[in-house]
Amino acid sequence: MIRIAHITDVHLPLAGATVRELASKRIFGWLSWRLRRFRRHRAVSLNTVIADMQAHAPDHIVLTGDLVNISTRREFAAARTWLETLAPPERLTFIPGNHDLYVANALQAGLVTLAPWMTAKNEGAQTIPRFPLVRYVSNVAIISLNSTYPAPWGEASGRLGLEQIERLARLLEETRSKGLFRLVILHHPPLFSLATSPRKALKDADALEQVLREKGAEAVLYGHNHLWKHDVLESRTGPVHLLAAPSASYRPGGKKPAAGWQMLGIARRQGAWRLHLLRRGLDRQGEPMTLKDEWLAF
Ligand SMILES: [Fe+2]
Repeated sequence: MIRIAHITDVHLPLAGATVRELASKRIFGWLSWRLRRFRRHRAVSLNTVIADMQAHAPDHIVLTGDLVNISTRREFAAARTWLETLAPPERLTFIPGNHDLYVANALQAGLVTLAPWMTAKNEGAQTIPRFPLVRYVSNVAIISLNSTYPAPWGEASGRLGLEQIERLARLLEETRSKGLFRLVILHHPPLFSLATSPRKALKDADALEQVLREKGAEAVLYGHNHLWKHDVLESRTGPVHLLAAPSASYRPGGKKPAAGWQMLGIARRQGAWRLHLLRRGLDRQGEPMTLKDEWLAF
């Protein structure tokens, strides 16, 4: 069985910003961190979740974005160090979230330095790679989408664009014909109905839904909402499990679910996929506990 762990919305503690960096939309994100968010996203919660996940020794880790908060140079330097200690690029797949592409110059500020974890190569890249990207972990094809763009102030929406959606459709067909388990990953909720508000939704969610229904996928992992979610979309190739986890750093006892992570166990038996879901999260005392441990139907 291949075991793929999923963490999302890490929101590492805000590592600092220069006055120049704050002379932009970043000032609003900076204020929101100083006023509220630093109380919600805690290093102690994150460290406990990561230690718990590592103790389960996954074969591969998927991180669906929001590693930082306002995309500053110091944040990306801290994020790169954090990723280096977590797992090498061949064991971890990262895709950006809206907070990692908070402003247009996020790339120069350091998002490019995280490219090795997007592609498992590409060290020294000048820009982030063209999505979708595919990585293979045994008979699992991890298909990464980039749903982020520098959204205007007050919005946390996402968009994929026609080219990415068209290439996704082809990749879903190709990987299915090779008999692979298709695991699609993106930051934003894949369906419009799964967004917590229109200003946080994926703008072209309807086009994505159509492709998922027509071409099928076995599972989709996403974040953004900071909520546990499990929905099933019917496709022409069978059910598509849509799975989200809360922020990996959210403290217990807040408005949103305490920090957690999930793991997919994927196996092929008698020509059919078997999919196991393990969900672990923090209890009120901040100790990790099992929330779900079940086989999902196909
Ligand atoms: Fe987030």
